[in-house]
Amino acid sequence: METIEITPKTYERDRLYEKYEGLIETDFNLNRTLVSYQANKNEPFIGWFKFKEGFSQKLIRYFIDKYHPKPGHIFDPFAGIGTTLFAARELGWDATGVELLPVGIIAMEARLAADQVTGDELIEAIQEFKDRFDESRNPAFQIKHIPITKGAYSEETERALCNYIDYCETIGEKFIKTLFKIAVFSILEEISFTRKDGSYLKWDYRAGRRVGKRKFNKGRIYSFKEAIDNKLTRISRDMNSVDKSELPLYIKMTDFKDNIPAIIQGSSLMKLPEIDDKSFDFIMTSPPYCNRYDYTRTYALELILLGYDNDDIKDLRQKMLTCTVENKEKIDMLRNLYIRLGKYSDFEEIIAVYNDNKAMQEVNSVLDELNNRNILNNKLIPRMVKNYFLEMAFIIFEMERVLKHNGIVVMVNDNVRYGGEEIPVDLILSDSADSYGFTVRKIWTLPVGKGNSSQQMSDYGRTELRKCVYIWEKE
Ligand SMILES: C[S@@+](CC[C@H](N)C(=O)[O-])C[C@H]1O[C@@H](n2cnc3c(N)ncnc32)[C@H](O)[C@@H]1O
Repeated sequence: METIEITPKTYERDRLYEKYEGLIETDFNLNRTLVSYQANKNEPFIGWFKFKEGFSQKLIRYFIDKYHPKPGHIFDPFAGIGTTLFAARELGWDATGVELLPVGIIAMEARLAADQVTGDELIEAIQEFKDRFDESRNPAFQIKHIPITKGAYSEETERALCNYIDYCETIGEKFIKTLFKIAVFSILEEISFTRKDGSYLKWDYRAGRRVGKRKFNKGRIYSFKEAIDNKLTRISRDMNSVDKSELPLYIKMTDFKDNIPAIIQGSSLMKLPEIDDKSFDFIMTSPPYCNRYDYTRTYALELILLGYDNDDIKDLRQKMLTCTVENKEKIDMLRNLYIRLGKYSDFEEIIAVYNDNKAMQEVNSVLDELNNRNILNNKLIPRMVKNYFLEMAFIIFEMERVLKHNGIVVMVNDNVRYGGEEIPVDLILSDSADSYGFTVRKIWTLPVGKGNSSQQMSDYGRTELRKCVYIWEKE
C-alpha cells in the first residue's frame, strides 16, 4: 500500500525552533519586577505616570551594562514614556525616541520640564495653586466625552477636573504648566470609575453603567483634590531628592540636564525611513505585542482630555503598529512613502524577505484554517497577525539600516497563542532579523513564561508561552 507523507502543521515552526534552540536560554535575573513597569513605581520621574506597558529603568541599565557599557547614541522606536531614553542618558548616552501615543509624549516632555524647574519653584507654584484653586466654580473647559468614557467621573470630580484645566491655562511659566499637566494625566484612573484593563476600560459598579455578570469594585476612588495634592507633592519631592546612589560614580558627578533626548512624535513606520543610515550604537525597545492590546482604548480618558474625539481616536488606532483586530493593512501607505523617499528598492526588498518567511506563511495558513472552522474568537485575528509581522519586517529592516556597525538591538516581546496555535513571535522576528542582516546572538527568556487565558489553558493544556528579550547584532 502506498504511504502518504503528511507534513505536520508545525513543520516550519519546529524547524525554526531547531535553528535557534541553542540560543534560547533563561536569564534568571529577568524577574517580572525587573522587566515590567513595577520597578519604576517608586522611582523618581519615571514613576509619576503609571504606564503599565513600560519596562523598568533597571532593565535598561542591566542590558547596557551587559552589551554596550561604553556610552554612544541609543534609540527606541517605541519609546512609550521614555524609559530607555532617560535611563540611558543618566549613563551618559545621547538618546532618540519615536512615540505615537500623545500620552507618552506628554510624560517625556514633563520629564524634560523637570530639568528646567527647581523643586522649590514647584513648591511655590503648588502653594499658589492651593491658595487660588476653587474646584466648585463653573468651569470654562468641558470634557467632550466619547461613548467609552461617558460617566467615567462623578459630577463633582468632573467639575473639579475641568476647573483644574482652566487653572493650568493661567500658569504663565511653561515648564511649571507642563508639570501641572502631567500631574493631572497621572491621576485620571484613580479619580475615575474605571480601571485600565488590557484592551478596554473596566467599569466599577458605582458608575451606574450596565455591568457584566460580576460586580466590579475597583476599591478606593480618590477625590480630585486629594489625588492631585498627592501627585503634586510627589513630583516636587522627587525633584528635590534625586537619589543617585545606585548609579556609577562618574554618572553621579555628571550633570546630564544639558543632554536632551530627541523625542520624535509620530509612527515609527513613517519616521524610521527618514533617519540617516548608521545613526545609532544601540537600540533598546519593546514594540506593541501581537496580543490585541488597544492603547487607544486603554488611554481613552487621557486622550479625550487632550481633545481627541471618536474619529481622532480611531485614526490614531489605525496608525499604531497593528496589534488589534481593528487595524487595517498599511501596505499602500508604506509603498507610497518609500516611493516618495526614493527608496522603492528597500520596499521591494522588505516584502521579498517577508514573503520568503516560511514559518510566517505556516502561521498564516493555520490561522486561516482555524478561522474557516470557526475556532478563533474573532474572524480578524489572522489579518492582525499577518500585518503585525509585515509591519515588524519594515521596523527590523530599518533598525538594521540605522544602526552602526556592531550595533546591538535588545527587544522585549512576548509570544502569543490563538485558537490553541502557538505563534513563536521570538523565532519569527529573530529569523526576519537574520534575513535582514543581523546576527541573532541570544533569545533570553524570562524564568516564568506567560500562560494564557484560563479558558485557553484548560482547552489546550498548560504549555507556557515564552516571554523574551532578543539580542541581535549588526556585524
Ligand atoms: C510596549 S510599549 C513600550 C513602552 C516603553 N518601553 C516604555 O518603557 O515606556 C509600546 C509603545 O509603542 C507605541 N507605538 C505603537 N505603535 C507605534 C508606532 N507605529 N510608532 C511609534 N510608537 C508606536 C505605543 O504607544 C507604546 O507606547
